[in-house]
Amino acid sequence: MSRIPLIAGNWKMYKTGPEAVETAMELAGLCSDVRDVEVMIAPTYLSLPLVAASIKDTDVKLGAQNLYFEKQGAFTGEVSADMIKAAGAEYVIIGHSERRQYFGETDSLVFKKIKSAIEAGLKPVLCIGETGKQKDEEKTFTVLDKQVSDGLKGFGLDELDDLVLAYEPVWAIGTGKTADTGQVNEVHQYLRSLLEKLFSKDFSHRTRILYGGSVKPENAKDLMGIEDVDGALVGGASLDANKFINIIKYNK
Ligand code: PGA
Repeated sequence: MSRIPLIAGNWKMYKTGPEAVETAMELAGLCSDVRDVEVMIAPTYLSLPLVAASIKDTDVKLGAQNLYFEKQGAFTGEVSADMIKAAGAEYVIIGHSERRQYFGETDSLVFKKIKSAIEAGLKPVLCIGETGKQKDEEKTFTVLDKQVSDGLKGFGLDELDDLVLAYEPVWAIGTGKTADTGQVNEVHQYLRSLLEKLFSKDFSHRTRILYGGSVKPENAKDLMGIEDVDGALVGGASLDANKFINIIKYNK
């Protein structure tokens, strides 16, 4: 079964609206000859409608970095899945380690967010990953097992058609340290078998599992060459269109 790789850029809290539009348009131009790889960028909420308009007729997809699970209401400062969808996004990143670390997001909150994303017709990118301490204590698989099980438990298979999983070891995010290919391979194989155990073989085979954490043009080919790696979630190196395109074109 072939899984089309997804290379996603998480722009975090970088770029004003005009800056985001400029990079998005530059990237879309560079991507005009990209085939067989899906490209997505996730700017801040404020830039979503602007970037949506600027990439409208291109193959570059749009994602948000977060959402709030309620449909609407007195939740000052929050943004709902429907609002994100109406702004032109197709994807939404959920449970990023920075959200878990700085904003106290728990697996049960992540579950609610995934549910509201699915209900709004957004494709959720569920981020999971162990911290450096958890890795040193050899708890990687236990942590991942809990994040995946608690984040997804209760969903029917028909609801998870568009789910993307992103394995991002926290110690590799923004640090320049990347997990070596052997480690990545082992974890991705584990995640694939976990999806099989929790859902079904067919589901585990068709669900894309991205790798994230200091992915750069220099290491993209090796990482993307791993059988169970179906793309990348890229932070720092996605901010510059010329750098990001070299990750997107890892096979060239
Ligand atoms: P990084 O971030 O590529 O800058 O390490 C990845 C991420 O946080 O998704």
